[in-house]
Amino acid sequence: MDKIIIEGGVPLNGEVTISGAKNAVLPILSACLLTGGWHTLDNIPRLKDIWTIKEILSNLGVVFEEDAQTLKVNSDNLNSHSAPYKLVKTMRASILVLGPLLARLRKAKISLPGGCAIGARPIDLHLKGLSAMGVDVNLEHGYVVASADRLRGADIFFDITTVTGTENLMMAAVKAEGETTINNAAKEPEVVDLANMLNGMGARIRGAGTDTITINGVKELHPVRHAIIPDRIEAGTFLIAAAITKGKARIKGCNVEHMEAVIKKLLETGMEIEKQGEDLVAMGHDKVKSVDIKTIPFPGFPTDMQAQLMALMCIADGWSMIRETVFENRFMHVSELRRMGADIETNGGQALVRGKGVLSGAQVMATDLRASASLVLAGLAAKGRTEISRVYHLDRGYQDLDLKLSRLGSKIWREKY
Ligand code: UD1
Repeated sequence: MDKIIIEGGVPLNGEVTISGAKNAVLPILSACLLTGGWHTLDNIPRLKDIWTIKEILSNLGVVFEEDAQTLKVNSDNLNSHSAPYKLVKTMRASILVLGPLLARLRKAKISLPGGCAIGARPIDLHLKGLSAMGVDVNLEHGYVVASADRLRGADIFFDITTVTGTENLMMAAVKAEGETTINNAAKEPEVVDLANMLNGMGARIRGAGTDTITINGVKELHPVRHAIIPDRIEAGTFLIAAAITKGKARIKGCNVEHMEAVIKKLLETGMEIEKQGEDLVAMGHDKVKSVDIKTIPFPGFPTDMQAQLMALMCIADGWSMIRETVFENRFMHVSELRRMGADIETNGGQALVRGKGVLSGAQVMATDLRASASLVLAGLAAKGRTEISRVYHLDRGYQDLDLKLSRLGSKIWREKY
């Protein structure tokens, strides 16, 4: 296994290019199951989660051709409708193949998903929506076993906004008979990217990006060429890297519209961020002002940036209240940040951080994807040496984070242990 070593205290200086968004690629690759022919996807990041979904698709009979950042995908010869536990267990988003398999084959058998241990994360809303579309859904021996003679449009209301739930039902509905409405739909940019890709395939989807999405089923779809949107969470993580090291970075290839909540909050901390076309030029300052945040679905402050912002608040100049409302158990980074000298009290979904201006290097353990990123950020700011073990969590969702930081001047490298 790899560990990451950081000698902290070096200000960032240079440029970095943002990769394609992990959370957009996962549903978009799953959508390639909807019809045969060669799909071409551009701006694909190299990530462990992408390998996982490709393995799940290969197991169904999908074939791939790839070069540096382009992936060609063909599902002409599907020979299975099943995603087994050994492939699904590491990634909750594996459930995204359920909707398209039902639309194409009218049957699917998917192991109940695993993924980050950040709360119970059920899939009841995905299944309830599919049932409303006429799918017979059963849970058998740890598998979702679903089948339908025909899929029919339905009026669906989500009790809680769910990103992959919205995506799964959108993919199930594109070839259903009649009209499907998803009320209280997720508005995340990755949902919009999927809808754009599906419309490029001939689907009829309106309202993606609002909380009501309407899908009129079509009989036929065709292959498409589609470029993945930039990863707004990776871009936000580099903004915080500039702030926490009191450095300067040009972050290239961002979609600023997807990042308003994060940019506004970081400006409140006193850092400078200048928009220059698709680039963000970020500059950190000696003094970091403490801010409060509450995570909420898009366009609010994203839960996927909560751990990274908490690392920044550890070196701020006062008290910060961080409220996590999307997931019920997303403070696993707290105990590791405390090992680095952070002063954080948690109470349910709230964390009170007393910024102390400094952190000290320590041996820490990554526990989930975004928690890993917060430890890297803390390590960049800390005095002395930080060693982060279990960085396979980081590799699920960040392409070469350590290499990109090293090119920005950070003293960061990997070692085997
Ligand atoms: C997606 C993102 C993840 C992000 C999260 C919230 C992907 C691949 N992952 O995860 O990075 O942190 O959105 O922005 O896009 N819930 C239910 N029942 C369901 C579904 C969800 O109760 O059937 C609850 C969850 O437990 C959670 C909340 O709804 O508390 C939001 O979860 P959801 O939006 O579904 O997260 P994911 O789609 O898994």
